[in-house]
Amino acid sequence: MTTTTTGIRAVPAVGTAHTRVEGRDKVTGAARYAAEIPFTELAHGWLVLSTVTRGRVSSVEDGPVLDMPGVLAVLHHGNAPRVDTDYVGMLGMPPDPTIAVFQHDRVPHAGWPVALVVAETSEQAREAAEALVVHYEEETHDVTFAGEHPDAYSVPGPGGPAVTEKGDLEAELAASAVVLDAEYTTPEEHHNSMEPHAATALWDGGRLEVVDSNQGTIWVAAELASLFSLDPASVHVRSEHVGGGFGSKGVRAHQVAAVMAATILSRPVRVVMTRRQMFSLAGYRSPTTQRVRLGADAEGRLLALEHSCLSLTSTVHEFIESGAGVARVMYDAPAHHTANRVVRLDVPSPTFMRAPGEAPGSFALESALDELAEKLGIDPIELRTRNEPAVGPVSGLPFSTRNLPACFEEGARRFGWADRDPRPGVRREGRWLIGTGTAAASFFVGAMPSTAAATAEADGTFTVRINAADIGTGARTALTLVAADALEVPTDRVHVRIGDSDFGPAMIAGGSMGTRSWAWAVTAAAAELRERLALSDGIPPEGITVRSDTTAAVGALAQKERHSFGAQFAEVAVDVSTGEVRVRRMLGMFAAGRIINPLTARGQFTGGMIWGISMALHEEAVRDRNTGALYGADLAGYHVASNADVPLVEADWVDDSDPDDPVGIKGIGEIGIVGAAAAIANAVWHATGVRHRNLPIRPDRVI
Ligand code: MOS
Repeated sequence: MTTTTTGIRAVPAVGTAHTRVEGRDKVTGAARYAAEIPFTELAHGWLVLSTVTRGRVSSVEDGPVLDMPGVLAVLHHGNAPRVDTDYVGMLGMPPDPTIAVFQHDRVPHAGWPVALVVAETSEQAREAAEALVVHYEEETHDVTFAGEHPDAYSVPGPGGPAVTEKGDLEAELAASAVVLDAEYTTPEEHHNSMEPHAATALWDGGRLEVVDSNQGTIWVAAELASLFSLDPASVHVRSEHVGGGFGSKGVRAHQVAAVMAATILSRPVRVVMTRRQMFSLAGYRSPTTQRVRLGADAEGRLLALEHSCLSLTSTVHEFIESGAGVARVMYDAPAHHTANRVVRLDVPSPTFMRAPGEAPGSFALESALDELAEKLGIDPIELRTRNEPAVGPVSGLPFSTRNLPACFEEGARRFGWADRDPRPGVRREGRWLIGTGTAAASFFVGAMPSTAAATAEADGTFTVRINAADIGTGARTALTLVAADALEVPTDRVHVRIGDSDFGPAMIAGGSMGTRSWAWAVTAAAAELRERLALSDGIPPEGITVRSDTTAAVGALAQKERHSFGAQFAEVAVDVSTGEVRVRRMLGMFAAGRIINPLTARGQFTGGMIWGISMALHEEAVRDRNTGALYGADLAGYHVASNADVPLVEADWVDDSDPDDPVGIKGIGEIGIVGAAAAIANAVWHATGVRHRNLPIRPDRVI
């Protein structure tokens, strides 16, 4: 028996800057990503995607390919194992049929997986996959997303109803001193995580083992168990290091194809998506067409607010980009209408991506607020302050905290907003027109039930096991600080292990709810362990382990409107001769709960803001209505912000500890992008006097 001490540290770790606990491993290459982990007898699968947009696979000429060097198998709808798709998956949604690969001959969109070629090496698999001849019966398709569509319908999105309505919109608009009526569009956007999707599957002693890159191993394990009708306990998914996800790394075609091939060949099979394949298999953000109507009295108090959002989905899966949801939280009015609608087209299935709903929704709503402020002759921050709601505009619930005015106040002070000449087009430096803009941000926060285990080891260290995912956010490090505080020991005595479905159920890295949900469970287990240690005489060789489950505690949370808030500021320069927009500086001030690790939190906020620059100025996937496929489905054709596009970007926060959370956390994962594109668009108007309601703000649109 050894003894261990806790309670030896007075200064909390939470709130102090801490470099990533796995940072050294990441920069030295010691940290292995999913496709880098070696396996003996590893075979490689290469997906073959349809070249037509709608129709049927009439035949797959697999014979010649099976004779090619190293080829082990060709899986397609004619020979693949059957899977079960009749189950309810994440968030109560049915699974996206794109993951049920090779089950039938139908092709519902360009880039639909039609075969998997498996070979001894990745190169052999690729060569054979490119040589595989697939014959199709082609049908006509419709991929055109326009402003209106006769087949559009209303449907509830993730986390909200399709329509909310109160008051008489037309009457309040008629009674308004100033009315704004504008249409905004955002294009199809793709996640583009730096690390492509990659999975290795193998059977080991009757268990299915999957080494993957995902946002939640329990999510992937549960879906694979359902698809293959397996006992969930016999599926083990690991995902230790993840190079970004942005909503795209759940269960996708590659894991399912790898499991099928590993089953047939009885050896480990790895399937990696190419960057190009990610553009049709990883999900994406639907384009949106949004209409905003605002009516206000002469003092700027909103009398009418209407926000409607049309997005698209595939013919096989219903996913809604609920852009109108943000108006349900931000502003109230006697007449308040929001509506999300969707149209089914012959396109790949969209999914959650970087603040789904809020990112495009805030572009429209926060641009519209800026336009209304201009019409009223009221400062845009003052207009927002005058319209701060006392309770949730649609829910009627009290806010857990809503420190948006504090964000604007402190942000305006630091940004130098008071010195701004509100007139557009009056600041010029040589060939550059200069402007500044602002916008509000919000994102839903919450907690989901999770389990954790904390162990006091015989050597005086502590091991925390929680099925969290660190997709680059720094979650592993944040949880180390949280555990150290709950145990009252220094951080270097705490080892947090994550990304393993055997650790038990926990929230995924999604919905900005990961760290809050996990920290809750970690705190519960660690605090109880500390109490247990205080009463014990020593630690047996196997250690002392305490487990937690937050299901009851999370379920008992009071009903409140729970959101993080923020104020975005941007300064841009617009080249009058080329139409090029350069962001010169950005500032984001956030009220997003207690900040666990200022170092990585700042990175998350600024990372989101940089994605906002990307959304405002660069990102746009263009679908060819004739072929139904994308132009330039790669990082040469699809532009994301690069170093040269990123100037001084600063983020900071105001005190905003959540009173209902054991650690005070709210959630910071997605809010950084919200409002960022609107702040930039509003700055472009201020620079030039021209409104840009269609993203991205390309040079040819500015000129
Ligand atoms: Mo996020 S779009 O909830 O991964």
